[in-house]
Amino acid sequence: MTESMVASTIAGPGALAGGGLDAHDAEASSRPADAPLRELYARYSRPQLMAVLSAIGLDVIYERGQGDYLYYRDDRGHEVAVLDLLGGFGASLFGHNHPRLVSCATRSLRELRPFNAQASVRSASALLAYRLSQRIGAATGRDYVTTFASTGAEVVEAAIKHAELERRLGGDRLLQRLRHENVRARRAVATGEARWEAASFERALGVSALGPDASPREVAQALLSIAERELGKPGTVLALERAFHGKTTGALRLTHNPEYRAPWRCFGHALFIPAGDVAALQRAVQAATVVLPLVTLGDDGLVRLQDMPRVDVVALFVEPIQGEGGIHELSLDYWQAIRAVADSAGFPVVVDEIQTGMGRTGRFLASEALGARGDYYLLSKSLGGGLAKIAALSVDSERYQPDFGYLHTSTFADDDPSSLIALAALDLLEERDGALLRACSNKGEYLLGKLRALQEAFPDVIRAVRGRGLMVGIELALSAPASAFLRLLCAQNLLGFMVAGYLLHEWKIRLAPALSANGTLRLEPSAGVELAELDRYCLALETVARLLRDEDTLTLTSFLFPEEARKERPRPARARRPASWPAASAGKRRAAFLAHFSVATDLQHFDPAFATLGESTCRQVLDKLSTTLTPFHLDSFQIASMDGGRVDLAVIALPFTSAQVATALREGRAEWALDHVRAGVELAKELGCDVIGFGGYSSIVSDNCRAIADDELVLTSGNSLTVAAAIDTMFAAADAHGIGTRRLGVVGATGNIGAMMAELAASEVSHTTLVGRPGAARRLEALAARLPGSVSVATDLNALRECNVIIGASNAPAPIIAAQHLSHENVVICDVAVPRDVALEVELERPNCRVLKGGSVRLPLEQRLDNRGLMIDGDAVYACLAETLVVALAGIERNFSFGALRGADVREVRRLALQHGFSFEGAARRQ
Ligand code: F0G
Repeated sequence: MTESMVASTIAGPGALAGGGLDAHDAEASSRPADAPLRELYARYSRPQLMAVLSAIGLDVIYERGQGDYLYYRDDRGHEVAVLDLLGGFGASLFGHNHPRLVSCATRSLRELRPFNAQASVRSASALLAYRLSQRIGAATGRDYVTTFASTGAEVVEAAIKHAELERRLGGDRLLQRLRHENVRARRAVATGEARWEAASFERALGVSALGPDASPREVAQALLSIAERELGKPGTVLALERAFHGKTTGALRLTHNPEYRAPWRCFGHALFIPAGDVAALQRAVQAATVVLPLVTLGDDGLVRLQDMPRVDVVALFVEPIQGEGGIHELSLDYWQAIRAVADSAGFPVVVDEIQTGMGRTGRFLASEALGARGDYYLLSKSLGGGLAKIAALSVDSERYQPDFGYLHTSTFADDDPSSLIALAALDLLEERDGALLRACSNKGEYLLGKLRALQEAFPDVIRAVRGRGLMVGIELALSAPASAFLRLLCAQNLLGFMVAGYLLHEWKIRLAPALSANGTLRLEPSAGVELAELDRYCLALETVARLLRDEDTLTLTSFLFPEEARKERPRPARARRPASWPAASAGKRRAAFLAHFSVATDLQHFDPAFATLGESTCRQVLDKLSTTLTPFHLDSFQIASMDGGRVDLAVIALPFTSAQVATALREGRAEWALDHVRAGVELAKELGCDVIGFGGYSSIVSDNCRAIADDELVLTSGNSLTVAAAIDTMFAAADAHGIGTRRLGVVGATGNIGAMMAELAASEVSHTTLVGRPGAARRLEALAARLPGSVSVATDLNALRECNVIIGASNAPAPIIAAQHLSHENVVICDVAVPRDVALEVELERPNCRVLKGGSVRLPLEQRLDNRGLMIDGDAVYACLAETLVVALAGIERNFSFGALRGADVREVRRLALQHGFSFEGAARRQ
């Protein structure tokens, strides 16, 4: 093969540009047949984010963006236009795909402008750097040297590095000076030309920490080492509380939200100071000041020790208007203080205009409006016109360190296409005498005016309206709503997201809350947004405010329901306002009970607004939300005992249903449910509870509390009282039902409750049949061997046909005992399983069969819990909840019903429960 043949085979233009490759549709060819894109995204890209997006209905696939609109296709294939007020977190100041910017991008591709021409003169970035220097200089009167990168966080990193380079070089120069002075003084003392001044030598001895015999030379050397050590230490980077500067490892250290930093806390973080607090800034600078020992030789021939303070602050990072932190603007006074402190201490002020810059606030830089001057400026987002990934660090040329240009580089920095787009974006800003900036300013004023009027009308819903130009925040805040669902959304910072979901689905308006201040909706429309569109947004927000004020949870969340369920919109019921959680008081114990949705329709009791939702709608809503919610303080009660004792009870709702956990247990992935239980325990501790009862599946997933390691708490699965009450109730009913010779059947006999009930009841019956799942035979036999009297085992529910007293205590997620499993004679079934073991139709099909909801207990003094989800048949509560109260009232100091149940505990809790005034069917019979 000749050389030219090789060349054309490998790299000839035909090989790449032709050959049908440009006609090749990579998007279509990448897609596996029948794989929904949402699933691919969830599985291969962002699993948890996808769960959250779909929980609040934001899992939309936008196909097209133009101006202030993004477009998606609905289920019927129709294109739907969505007004985009999220605006790319501030990146789409020029709207989506601005025609001039698109044409600039396509032209640079058509003209084959080099993307990769590293290590050459990059003409477009030269022009861009010049334009930026002029633009920033117009506000500050200075020149700037600009380093380009691709993303905001990257220029934050660059700024940290440049500031550290300044500090390092300054430190090195200082050290040279100290060394020089030190050596000069040392020499002069050695030759007898000079001597230490006595008092100074005393102090130097102390500072050097050398003994009294140390020579002047040793002391001087030790002082130099101290200075070297101090100057080698890392400096302090200052940032403001609520700051957001990005999420790469360096930038993350300056981002305040602890949630973002927690997993990487070992990387350390900046010193955060409250924005606006000048004294805090001064204290931080003071704390970062080191005192270096300077040895000087005076003209009088005396060597002295001087203290040389050095402020070891690398830089102070500020956003003129904090964006992600919830739209908070810095005040003029604070800016002036920052400038004065930084000037006297000598550290650079880095103004992060990544979100605020490029005109969004009505000026090229938001800091301009405050007459503030920084030393470094950061730009990104709209700098690339919403099309190019480009970011800039512009450093005051008087501070710029020339070495930085080769010490800090990146493959993708300085490319022609991005720089050309940024130049075109600057043209758009400047043309017609800055018309675009004026538009931002005027439209912003218009929007803020309308929003402020809305705030006046709804002060109970809209706490604040903040911002400047087209960077606006609306802080929603509800004070203690009665609706449990609204309280849950507020407590878990989901209110803003739910409103975003509602606005998207009902109004086709897209926005999002600020992620570090979830109650604040952030609006960043493009400069081209029409006033009519802002009006439409204000109307939508007014509707939201009204829904929130009316606590119309149903309308607000109906976008989460399937289409059929949305049609009939029953009038939402108003919720009862729960009692507030009282402050701790001496002599009164505080207990928490971990409850969860036993069945999906418990959602109807959770919030009366949902009372009319059908079973499948409840299930779908819970399936969607349970990945996003965390344990929640649902309700509070005060319960009195017959002996005058009192206990505060906090009910904590865990966001799962029995069926969800049962499925997860079967599939061996129930760890998430245990995580919820752990989080529920933590919440209980935060509420000051020291007795915690585990309802339903929270005992099962925690291995009857054993998975919780905490020796300051009293934990109980509540199962002892469940057993005691169920046995009494069952035998009392058997007597009433005329059952003479009792033949006991126990379903779920290998479980903790089933086994204990079998053990205690076996001595009172003529025969016991232990029934378990196929595969449980060995364990059933082991239990049978321990029981008194005549006992047999079975793995088939038909064995129940021989029984007339039956206990249902399985962990099955749905009923398993049906009519065909039962005898036609009189039968009493005590169903302690949650959810129930006995199918609903059993009682209809078998009139001589009596089904009791076992394990229900009445509270002392006819007290009731004013929460339908917690009451059984209106006058009793679950025995596990009652046991939690008994343990608290009786002052029990050890874990109770913890792990495997013990007969002695069952008897003790029964006695204590009756003593405190709790009651249950049949208790009297056996007293
Ligand atoms: N600085 C500011 C002020 C920012 O708002 C952002 C990003 C960054 C730096 C980091 O830029 O994402 O390109 O690495 N803010 C987005 C927001 C994420 O939600 O406001 P990036």
